[in-house]
Amino acid sequence: MHFAIIGKHTSLSLIELDALIASSNDTEIIKNNIVVFSTNRSEALNILGGTIKSGRVVDESALEPILAEHTLLGTADLTKAKQFKKEHASIRRFKEVPLTHADMDIKKKWIELINLWKGKWGVVENYQNIWLYEAIDFNKPSSGMNIGMMPSKLAHILITIATEITDPKKHTVRDPFCGFGTTNFLANAHGYNTIGSDIKIAEAKRNHKRWTQQEYFSAQQKMTFFKHDVLDAFDKPFLNHVDYIVSEWRLWPTVSHKTRLPALDTNVIKISEIYKAFFENILASQKTLSKLKKIVITVPEYQEYNETQVADILEKFLIEKELSHTFIEETYARKKQKVGRKILIVVL
Ligand SMILES: C[S@@+](CC[C@H](N)C(=O)[O-])C[C@H]1O[C@@H](n2cnc3c(N)ncnc32)[C@H](O)[C@@H]1O
Repeated sequence: MHFAIIGKHTSLSLIELDALIASSNDTEIIKNNIVVFSTNRSEALNILGGTIKSGRVVDESALEPILAEHTLLGTADLTKAKQFKKEHASIRRFKEVPLTHADMDIKKKWIELINLWKGKWGVVENYQNIWLYEAIDFNKPSSGMNIGMMPSKLAHILITIATEITDPKKHTVRDPFCGFGTTNFLANAHGYNTIGSDIKIAEAKRNHKRWTQQEYFSAQQKMTFFKHDVLDAFDKPFLNHVDYIVSEWRLWPTVSHKTRLPALDTNVIKISEIYKAFFENILASQKTLSKLKKIVITVPEYQEYNETQVADILEKFLIEKELSHTFIEETYARKKQKVGRKILIVVL
């Protein structure tokens, strides 16, 4: 058995984790953000973006050899930590580690144990790679996550949801609204070939140069950026190679506290028209895009707005077009922002 401590967007993180879960029958969510499951792809657990830490589940009795081998112990259970230190001369220090905390020291030098439930412990083997996000958010404002900019952690999760961590070298991820290139750099870091296009391509091209200097840059993979409007046909020859589309279009307009919500009605319609045209173009190009398997894309959702949302309009449209799809129930929103993201998965 394995366990994962998932992030605060629980349904998103669970959908991502799902790709690695062997059977939903023996999956259990304990203590709201701890999931216990069986997997035959445990080597891929360290690739997840929505899982803060993960590892294997062992009986307390099986901790003996692990404790005997380590000098530094991290755990959220200090009572047990004191007991372990008394019983094992090898343990010289212990430190309290919050369940949802991933830090460099612990990752490098400590053994971290999680008291899951009576007699069962989690031995942490993987930590979320927050350093990768720092490398990608190099030119975003210090908040890193300004409105209209795809947070790199979200881009990471969407890539895994789309690809289900299948053989990256053989697959290509395309972002047709690539903006700064966040999704493309994440795809490259995970070993996928990647194509980015946008009506304005200068930013992505500039960032591409900077990305090639980063330690997570994968030189073996192809990475291409070019100018393209999603309202134009998607039938250029090299699109034959696209397996997954992962993207965020603008979270537009910026809805400030002063925005009068009724003014959103026309925007919702305008935005929906762009998404519809995008899907129409995909459908029209389906012969040339025959490898395309999945589209994972964000759709803006306005908070405190009880009228028709973009997702409602698209839902009708996708049913009409007989496109198999799901909207993830949970909205990905930041505190104080009046616009959040609804995530749409379309399976072709
Ligand atoms: C929020 S950014 C995208 C973020 C990007 N997905 C990422 O991972 O960083 C939105 C981008 O959509 C582009 N855009 C707007 N209308 C477009 C269209 N019709 N075709 C292609 N790109 C478009 C804008 O130029 C802008 O760069």
